[in-house]
Amino acid sequence: MSELNTGKSDKLVINNEVFVSFLSEEVIQKRVKELAEQISEDYKGKLPIFIGVLNGAFVFMADLIKNLSINCEIDFFKLSSYGDSKISSGNVRMLKELNCDVNERDIVIVEDIVDSGLSIKYIEQIFNKFTPTSMKVCSLLMKPDSLKYNVKIDYIGFKIPTKFVIGYGLDYAQKYRNLKSIYVLSDEV
Ligand code: IMP
Ligand code: MG
Repeated sequence: MSELNTGKSDKLVINNEVFVSFLSEEVIQKRVKELAEQISEDYKGKLPIFIGVLNGAFVFMADLIKNLSINCEIDFFKLSSYGDSKISSGNVRMLKELNCDVNERDIVIVEDIVDSGLSIKYIEQIFNKFTPTSMKVCSLLMKPDSLKYNVKIDYIGFKIPTKFVIGYGLDYAQKYRNLKSIYVLSDEV
Protein backbone atom coordinates (compact mmCIF):
# COMPACT_ATOMS: atom_id res chain seq x y z
CA MET A 1 0.00 0.00 0.00
CA SER A 2 1.48 3.30 -0.98
CA GLU A 3 -1.43 5.70 -0.65
CA LEU A 4 -0.99 8.48 1.82
CA ASN A 5 -4.40 9.57 2.99
CA THR A 6 -3.41 12.40 5.26
CA GLY A 7 -5.86 15.18 4.67
CA LYS A 8 -5.86 16.83 8.03
CA SER A 9 -6.44 13.67 10.01
CA ASP A 10 -5.43 13.57 13.67
CA LYS A 11 -4.21 10.02 13.48
CA LEU A 12 -2.07 7.90 11.15
CA VAL A 13 -1.72 4.16 11.51
CA ILE A 14 1.52 2.88 10.04
CA ASN A 15 2.44 -0.82 10.36
CA ASN A 16 0.15 -1.15 13.39
CA GLU A 17 1.76 1.84 15.04
CA VAL A 18 -0.29 4.92 15.80
CA PHE A 19 1.00 8.42 15.10
CA VAL A 20 -1.01 11.36 16.39
CA SER A 21 -1.06 14.98 15.30
CA PHE A 22 1.64 16.93 17.15
CA LEU A 23 2.57 20.21 15.40
CA SER A 24 0.05 21.56 12.92
CA GLU A 25 0.96 23.17 9.61
CA GLU A 26 -0.15 26.56 11.00
CA VAL A 27 1.97 26.24 14.15
CA ILE A 28 5.02 25.16 12.13
CA GLN A 29 4.65 27.94 9.54
CA LYS A 30 4.27 30.60 12.25
CA ARG A 31 7.43 29.45 14.03
CA VAL A 32 9.43 29.15 10.77
CA LYS A 33 8.48 32.76 9.99
CA GLU A 34 9.67 33.88 13.43
CA LEU A 35 13.00 32.07 12.98
CA ALA A 36 13.45 33.62 9.52
CA GLU A 37 12.77 37.08 10.91
CA GLN A 38 15.29 36.60 13.70
CA ILE A 39 17.94 35.25 11.29
CA SER A 40 17.29 38.10 8.82
CA GLU A 41 17.86 40.57 11.66
CA ASP A 42 21.04 38.82 12.86
CA TYR A 43 22.55 38.61 9.34
CA LYS A 44 21.54 42.06 8.10
CA GLY A 45 24.13 43.28 5.55
CA LYS A 46 25.68 39.80 5.27
CA LEU A 47 25.32 37.04 2.70
CA PRO A 48 25.11 33.78 4.66
CA ILE A 49 25.25 30.31 3.12
CA PHE A 50 22.48 28.07 4.42
CA ILE A 51 23.69 24.49 4.43
CA GLY A 52 20.89 21.96 4.76
CA VAL A 53 21.44 18.47 6.07
CA LEU A 54 19.74 16.07 3.67
CA ASN A 55 17.32 14.52 3.45
CA GLY A 56 15.34 15.71 6.44
CA ALA A 57 16.04 19.44 6.36
CA PHE A 58 14.97 20.22 2.81
CA VAL A 59 11.31 21.00 3.59
CA PHE A 60 12.13 23.23 6.55
CA MET A 61 14.98 24.92 4.70
CA ALA A 62 12.77 25.73 1.71
CA ASP A 63 10.21 27.44 3.96
CA LEU A 64 12.90 29.11 6.05
CA ILE A 65 14.70 30.79 3.14
CA LYS A 66 11.41 31.85 1.53
CA ASN A 67 10.68 33.84 4.68
CA LEU A 68 14.07 35.59 4.85
CA SER A 69 14.29 39.29 4.07
CA ILE A 70 18.03 39.08 3.28
CA ASN A 71 19.87 37.48 0.37
CA CYS A 72 21.39 34.07 0.89
CA GLU A 73 23.14 31.21 -0.85
CA ILE A 74 22.39 27.55 -0.25
CA ASP A 75 24.08 24.18 -0.34
CA PHE A 76 23.46 20.71 1.09
CA PHE A 77 25.29 17.94 2.90
CA LYS A 78 24.04 14.43 2.96
CA LEU A 79 24.71 12.38 6.06
CA SER A 80 23.42 8.99 7.00
CA SER A 81 23.01 7.68 10.50
CA TYR A 82 19.53 6.20 10.93
CA GLY A 83 19.18 3.77 8.08
CA ASP A 84 15.57 2.67 8.08
CA SER A 85 15.18 2.28 11.82
CA LYS A 86 13.76 4.59 14.45
CA ILE A 87 16.92 4.50 16.51
CA SER A 88 20.19 6.11 15.51
CA SER A 89 22.92 3.65 14.56
CA GLY A 90 25.42 5.90 16.29
CA ASN A 91 27.51 6.11 13.13
CA VAL A 92 27.54 9.01 10.73
CA ARG A 93 28.64 8.73 7.13
CA MET A 94 29.05 11.50 4.58
CA LEU A 95 27.03 10.61 1.49
CA LYS A 96 27.18 13.96 -0.32
CA GLU A 97 29.88 16.56 0.15
CA LEU A 98 29.55 20.32 -0.02
CA ASN A 99 29.94 22.04 -3.37
CA CYS A 100 30.62 25.54 -2.06
CA ASP A 101 33.63 27.32 -0.60
CA VAL A 102 32.83 27.96 3.06
CA ASN A 103 36.05 29.80 3.85
CA GLU A 104 35.55 33.39 5.06
CA ARG A 105 31.77 32.95 4.82
CA ASP A 106 28.94 33.10 7.34
CA ILE A 107 27.48 29.60 7.56
CA VAL A 108 24.10 28.54 8.92
CA ILE A 109 23.69 24.77 9.21
CA VAL A 110 20.03 23.80 8.84
CA GLU A 111 18.78 20.58 10.46
CA ASP A 112 15.34 19.04 10.77
CA ILE A 113 15.97 17.69 14.26
CA VAL A 114 18.77 17.41 16.79
CA ASP A 115 18.49 14.16 18.72
CA SER A 116 21.77 12.91 20.24
CA GLY A 117 23.70 15.76 18.65
CA LEU A 118 26.03 13.32 16.86
CA SER A 119 25.29 14.68 13.39
CA ILE A 120 26.00 18.26 14.48
CA LYS A 121 29.18 17.18 16.27
CA TYR A 122 30.31 15.43 13.07
CA ILE A 123 29.53 18.54 11.00
CA GLU A 124 31.44 20.75 13.46
CA GLN A 125 34.48 18.50 12.99
CA ILE A 126 34.24 18.81 9.21
CA PHE A 127 34.14 22.59 9.55
CA ASN A 128 37.25 22.55 11.74
CA LYS A 129 39.19 21.92 8.52
CA PHE A 130 37.90 25.20 7.06
CA THR A 131 37.90 28.82 8.11
CA PRO A 132 34.34 30.10 7.96
CA THR A 133 33.82 33.61 9.33
CA SER A 134 31.05 32.24 11.53
CA MET A 135 29.03 29.09 11.91
CA LYS A 136 25.62 28.77 13.54
CA VAL A 137 23.14 25.93 13.70
CA CYS A 138 19.40 26.21 13.11
CA SER A 139 17.20 23.21 13.83
CA LEU A 140 13.43 23.03 13.51
CA LEU A 141 13.21 20.49 16.34
CA MET A 142 15.36 19.46 19.25
CA LYS A 143 15.01 16.67 21.80
CA PRO A 144 16.88 18.16 24.79
CA ASP A 145 16.57 14.99 26.90
CA SER A 146 18.25 12.89 24.18
CA LEU A 147 21.35 15.05 23.83
CA LYS A 148 24.57 13.09 24.32
CA TYR A 149 27.07 15.44 22.72
CA ASN A 150 27.97 18.96 23.75
CA VAL A 151 26.61 20.97 20.85
CA LYS A 152 25.25 24.50 20.69
CA ILE A 153 22.08 25.01 18.66
CA ASP A 154 21.68 28.72 17.96
CA TYR A 155 18.15 28.72 16.55
CA ILE A 156 15.59 26.16 17.72
CA GLY A 157 12.05 25.94 16.38
CA PHE A 158 10.57 23.64 19.02
CA LYS A 159 11.99 21.65 21.93
CA ILE A 160 10.16 18.33 22.01
CA PRO A 161 10.11 15.24 24.25
CA THR A 162 12.19 12.17 23.37
CA LYS A 163 9.63 10.64 21.04
CA PHE A 164 9.75 9.62 17.40
CA VAL A 165 8.21 12.16 15.04
CA ILE A 166 7.44 12.16 11.32
CA GLY A 167 6.37 14.63 8.65
CA TYR A 168 7.54 18.00 7.34
CA GLY A 169 10.79 16.45 6.10
CA LEU A 170 11.16 13.87 8.86
CA ASP A 171 10.87 10.28 7.72
CA TYR A 172 10.05 6.83 8.93
CA ALA A 173 11.92 4.38 6.68
CA GLN A 174 12.24 7.17 4.07
CA LYS A 175 8.49 7.81 3.92
CA TYR A 176 6.10 10.50 5.24
CA ARG A 177 8.48 13.41 4.59
CA ASN A 178 5.73 15.00 2.49
CA LEU A 179 3.27 15.46 5.37
CA LYS A 180 2.58 19.16 5.95
CA SER A 181 2.35 18.74 9.72
CA ILE A 182 4.31 16.72 12.26
CA TYR A 183 2.99 13.54 13.91
CA VAL A 184 4.33 11.79 16.99
CA LEU A 185 4.42 8.06 17.70
CA SER A 186 1.90 7.39 20.44
CA ASP A 187 1.97 4.60 23.03
CA GLU A 188 -1.38 3.43 21.72
CA VAL A 189 -1.39 0.22 19.60
P1 IMP B 1 21.44 12.99 15.90
O1 IMP B 1 22.68 12.86 15.07
O2 IMP B 1 21.31 11.86 16.90
O3 IMP B 1 21.30 14.35 16.56
O4 IMP B 1 20.21 12.76 14.95
C1 IMP B 1 19.88 13.67 14.00
C2 IMP B 1 19.21 13.03 12.81
O5 IMP B 1 18.44 11.88 13.16
C3 IMP B 1 18.22 14.01 12.22
O6 IMP B 1 18.81 14.74 11.17
C4 IMP B 1 17.10 13.12 11.72
O7 IMP B 1 17.31 12.80 10.38
C5 IMP B 1 17.18 11.87 12.53
N1 IMP B 1 16.12 11.83 13.58
C6 IMP B 1 16.27 12.06 14.90
N2 IMP B 1 15.10 11.95 15.56
C7 IMP B 1 14.18 11.67 14.61
C8 IMP B 1 12.74 11.48 14.66
O8 IMP B 1 12.07 11.54 15.71
N3 IMP B 1 12.14 11.22 13.47
C9 IMP B 1 12.82 11.14 12.28
N4 IMP B 1 14.15 11.33 12.19
C10 IMP B 1 14.83 11.59 13.34
MG1 MG C 1 18.03 13.63 8.86
